[in-house]
Amino acid sequence: MGQKPITFLRQVISLCVNPDLLNNESFPADARERARRILQGCKGGSLGSYSDSVGVEVIRKDIAAYIERRDGFPSDPDNIFLSTGASDAIKNCLHLLVAGSGKTRTGIMIPIPQYPLYSAAASQLDAHQVNYYLNEDNNWALDIAELERSVKEARQHCTPRVLCVINPGNPTGQVLSKENVQEIIKFAAREHLFLMADEVYQDNIYAEGCAFHSFKKTMMELGPEYSTLELASFHSTSKGYMGECGFRGGYMEVINMDPQVKLQLKKLVSTKLCPPVSGQATMDCVVNPPQPGEPSYESFIKEKTAVLKSLAERAKLVAETFNSIEGVTCNTVQGAMYAFPRIALPQRAVEKAKSLGQAPDGFYALQLLEQAGICVVPGSGFGQREGTYHFRTTILPQPDKLKIFMDAFTAFHNKFMKEYAD
Ligand SMILES: Cc1ncc(COP(=O)(O)O)c(C=O)c1O
Repeated sequence: MGQKPITFLRQVISLCVNPDLLNNESFPADARERARRILQGCKGGSLGSYSDSVGVEVIRKDIAAYIERRDGFPSDPDNIFLSTGASDAIKNCLHLLVAGSGKTRTGIMIPIPQYPLYSAAASQLDAHQVNYYLNEDNNWALDIAELERSVKEARQHCTPRVLCVINPGNPTGQVLSKENVQEIIKFAAREHLFLMADEVYQDNIYAEGCAFHSFKKTMMELGPEYSTLELASFHSTSKGYMGECGFRGGYMEVINMDPQVKLQLKKLVSTKLCPPVSGQATMDCVVNPPQPGEPSYESFIKEKTAVLKSLAERAKLVAETFNSIEGVTCNTVQGAMYAFPRIALPQRAVEKAKSLGQAPDGFYALQLLEQAGICVVPGSGFGQREGTYHFRTTILPQPDKLKIFMDAFTAFHNKFMKEYAD
C-alpha cells in the first residue's frame, strides 16, 4: 500500500539477521543495542534457532513492561505468549476453550459484522457461533441489551463460554468508549464468560474525543469484584503505524487463567515449536521503541506521527466522501483501518443479483471491480443485519491513490444507481 517502513524497526531486524553489522557505526547506537539484547536472549545468539515455545524470555519481559507502562497495572511475563501474528494466538485461545457436545458444546460470541477469522475458527473447531449485532445507528457501539439477548438465545442450544470483542473494530472502525468497555466487562463477569479482547488496532485511533481503553486496565480499575475475570488480550506487529504483517509478530496476555489450564495452553503452543523468531524481534521493537534522549528517538517519532496523522486524514476523507454520495451512508471511522459504508441498493439491483444467484452486495462489489477496477469486500463476508447492504474498504492507500479511488467510486456508484433506479 506504499507505506514506508519505520526505519528503526528495520534497522534492528537487519542487525538481528546479520550480526556482522553490529559494530557498523552507520547504524545508530540504540538500534545496535536493541539488536544485541534480542540476540543475547536467543539460543546460540541467533535468530535462526528455535526459541521457547512461549517466546524469547527477554521479549516477553519487554512486552510485560510495555503493558505496565500502558495500563499502570502489573503484568507478569509468565502470562505472555508470543505468536505467529495475532491470528495464531486467537486460534490457540479458542482451541483451548472449545469443549463439550450437544448442549454443552462451547458457544463463541462474535460481533456482527466481524473479522472472518472468528467465524472460520468457530467452524474449524466445530463450535457454535453465537452472533451479537453491533449497533450501526450508534456508530457500531456494543449494546448490552443485544449481548443479553444473544447469550440468552444461545443458552437454549449450547454453552456460551467465550465473548470476543474487537476494539478498535474491523470492519466497522469504531472505538469503544470507556463506559462501554466497563459494561462489557460486567456482562462477561455476570455470565461467566472468558473475554477475548482483540486489541490489534490499539495504536489506530483517529477521531477527536476517542481513546483506546484496554480491557485489562478497565477491568483492574473496576476493582476486586471484577479483577478476577478471565481475559486474554491480543496485539500484533501487523497494524498500528508499523504495518509489518509479513513478519508475523504477535502476542497474547492471559489474565486470571487457571494454572492447570495455562499448562494445557503451553502444551498446545509447544506443538508448533515456536513463533518465527524474526517476528518476535519485530514485536520487541514495537513494545520497546526509542526513548527520549536516544539517537533514533526524534526520527522514530517523526515517522510514527506522520503515518498516524495521514491515516487519520484518510479516515476522515473516506467517511466524508461516502456521506456526500446519494445512497451511501458511513459511520465515522474512529479507528482501525477500514470504512464499512451502507449502500441503499435499489430493488431492481437486488432482483438482478438474485437472478444471477449472487448476494446483492456481492453483485454490487463485482460490478465495481469490473467497471471501475476497484476491489472491496461485500458486507455479506462479515455479516450484517438482514436486508442491509454494505461493503468494506480500507483507508490504507496513499492519499493520491485514495483520491483517484474515491472519484472512480463516485462515478461508478452514480451510474449504477441510475441504471437500476426503481
Ligand atoms: C481484528 C483483527 N484481528 C486479528 C487480525 C490478525 O492479524 P495478524 O495475524 O496479522 O496479527 C486482523 C488482521 O487483519 C484483524 O483485523
